[in-house]
Amino acid sequence: MYEPLVEHLELLACPNCRGALRLGGSEFACKACGASYPVSEDGIPLLFLPNEGRTDREDLTQIVKTFYEANPFPNYDEVDSRESLARKASRGIFARLLDEQIPAGSLVLEVGCGTGQLTNFLGLSWKRKVFGADMCLNSLRLAKGFRDRFSVNQAAFLQMNLFRPCFVDNRLDVVICSGVLHHTGDPLGGFRSLARLVKPGGVLLIGLYNKIGRLPTDFRRWIFRNLGDGFSFLDDHMRNKNYNEARKRAWFMDQYKHPHESKHTFSEAIEWFESSGFQFLMTIPKIGSEPFTANEKLFERHSKGTRMSRFLTEVEMLMTGGRDGALFITIGRKAATGISQGCDPDATRIARLQ
Ligand SMILES: C[S@@+](CC[C@H](N)C(=O)[O-])C[C@H]1O[C@@H](n2cnc3c(N)ncnc32)[C@H](O)[C@@H]1O
Repeated sequence: MYEPLVEHLELLACPNCRGALRLGGSEFACKACGASYPVSEDGIPLLFLPNEGRTDREDLTQIVKTFYEANPFPNYDEVDSRESLARKASRGIFARLLDEQIPAGSLVLEVGCGTGQLTNFLGLSWKRKVFGADMCLNSLRLAKGFRDRFSVNQAAFLQMNLFRPCFVDNRLDVVICSGVLHHTGDPLGGFRSLARLVKPGGVLLIGLYNKIGRLPTDFRRWIFRNLGDGFSFLDDHMRNKNYNEARKRAWFMDQYKHPHESKHTFSEAIEWFESSGFQFLMTIPKIGSEPFTANEKLFERHSKGTRMSRFLTEVEMLMTGGRDGALFITIGRKAATGISQGCDPDATRIARLQ
């Protein structure tokens, strides 16, 4: 069910007024404003509230939500056990390094977890608690279905809007949000909303589409729009023999039929972190010519290069075909003194453990 959330009720905040929540029967209720949030029949706490004018820009949440309810992403292929999820996930260096390097005892939140592969993978370890939040209920059902079937007891899923989060500020050790903010009308506003949740000394990992690296995807989208989806074989993922049909369709819809996406640069992402009180740690791919290796230290400081070297890294993403939709990840650590609620004595735990 959602035991990890019940064990950590102190982490939850009312998405309406940010008051403390209590659990009564099978619903969460706000101790301050009295708002109540039911739990779905399949055991997913429904803490989603619409934006109602709270973002600075155009509100696309409902449009994007409708899209993902029809096209849950990334969907599961032949993952039929804990072992096969672990095997598949650890083929991706990023997921494996996260699993190895997130300090024991961490509280981890993945925002926009989709069908929950990463949350479930990280939740296989007893060393941490992992919360997977998304606004799409159909994706969460797939995520939780896997979680229950294979007893991923350290993971819990809940429905949430990242612009109206249901977690208290300054408490989470690790917040991950990959492939999500560029599908909102206000990516920077979304970033700031998540930055508040990270505890001083904790880390934030953000994955965004790259402006230059994604040009090949833009070109293929143009081809499909003008010549038809029969040309979908031009995308590597559509020829991947390890993907089943559901997975291929999810990829194709997400990459080529999405109602909204924005694209970003390395310099822009670094500016978001630094202007929100975070120290830059690294990007994936790395800035400059050094390759990202299987021994990379995700939570140590790396060079942030210059505007020119960042631009050249983006050109290299383009020249290598904009693999995997040209998503790049930026990692930063929140200043140990905090930016909004003072210093937590336990705050530098992650920093000390490196
Ligand atoms: C492309 S999928 C990424 C899924 C997963 N992070 C991954 O990388 O495989 C984007 C996800 O972000 C979620 N999302 C978009 N806007 C959101 C919002 N305002 N609040 C919560 N989730 C959101 C969508 O429902 C969708 O599941």
